[in-house]
Amino acid sequence: MLRIEVENKLPDEPTSIHWHGLLLRAGMDGVPDVSGFPIAPKQVFVYEYPLLQSGTYWYHSHWQLPEQIGMAGPFVIEASDDPLRVDHDVVIMLGDWLYRSPYAALTALKKGPAKPMAAGAKMADMKPDLADIEYDAFLLNGRGTRDPWTYQARPGERIWLRIINAAASTYFRLRLDGHPLAITHADGLAVEPVTVDYLQMGMAETYDVVVTLSGSGSYTLHAVAVDGSGQAIGVLHTPEAAVKPNLAMPTFEGRALSYGDLRAVAPTALPPGPARPFTLALQGDMAKYVWTINGQVYPKTDPLVIRQGDRVQIELRNETSMWHPMHLHGHFFRVLQGAGERAPFKHTVNVAPRETVRIEFTADNPGRWIFHCHNLYHLEAGMARVFEYEA
Ligand code: C2O
Ligand code: CU
Repeated sequence: MLRIEVENKLPDEPTSIHWHGLLLRAGMDGVPDVSGFPIAPKQVFVYEYPLLQSGTYWYHSHWQLPEQIGMAGPFVIEASDDPLRVDHDVVIMLGDWLYRSPYAALTALKKGPAKPMAAGAKMADMKPDLADIEYDAFLLNGRGTRDPWTYQARPGERIWLRIINAAASTYFRLRLDGHPLAITHADGLAVEPVTVDYLQMGMAETYDVVVTLSGSGSYTLHAVAVDGSGQAIGVLHTPEAAVKPNLAMPTFEGRALSYGDLRAVAPTALPPGPARPFTLALQGDMAKYVWTINGQVYPKTDPLVIRQGDRVQIELRNETSMWHPMHLHGHFFRVLQGAGERAPFKHTVNVAPRETVRIEFTADNPGRWIFHCHNLYHLEAGMARVFEYEA
């Protein structure tokens, strides 16, 4: 049973903490106006819930924009009997950083595109648009590239990297100089190990990766923002080797991870239950900076009413030119993309520009649960809906 007291010491704004990826009852989920109330200044709220799972997760503010300015952290639950044998177990938390207020950044977005659009260009014929915000820096474990995070291990040792994309609005591509990445878990849950040269991560996804240091040296882990505007780095090095951060932008060649490569370690077929299908169109109006699901702007949305025991089948149709990492609270869903009966369970799924992705979950945790884009600015600008059901 976990008990966390959160005291709001902010002078004049409410707050709320969400435990991202954790299975808990709705009242502990930390989403103001959906499953609870914001914590007023000077007030304490006690989150208390049993831990039903293990793995790499995180927590963050779920009130407006403080997540962008650092109100977030890793949340790792060790299994009592983990079969994964490693020499080191470390968290890699990625972030994006602004020296201006995120509220000012959002206001600027609402005034119209910062990057001028070609005359006459419409959403529909724009090429993929990779970022909303121009960031001042990208962070790995809270540090920029000038003074990067470093970690020492011996040649041949196995390092478990628990990678969390805690950026507010940045997709990253990751690679480690001179080493392949053996992926062992996605969104906290074990998958059949798969080895790739690099991977792309949406906001709020986590991947656990094992690397075996190949020999004595200094090896830079690169997390490059997909719009190419910068990177965060970390350096793994052996004791006798000098730490040499490699600031050159890496190239991304070789094998990339795709969702089709993710296979759960056991069949994931859902228990039988009445099928409840939804088609949700992800839409946006860049000029007004409004993001919608089926034309509705959160919080002015109709609830998606389901029933306990339903097999909820969702088709996500991305009608925009941006990526959307869609996250469901309180449940894991199956990502139906290539792995058949071993379709992996995830809490966040990337939907690429103009693509359609199918997911399904069993309604087994009654309450009101937000389902939203984890681009913080898209969420603030309306891209969310609420699933609702009673016991
Ligand atoms: Cu990281 Cu609404 O969640
Ligand atoms: Cu989005």
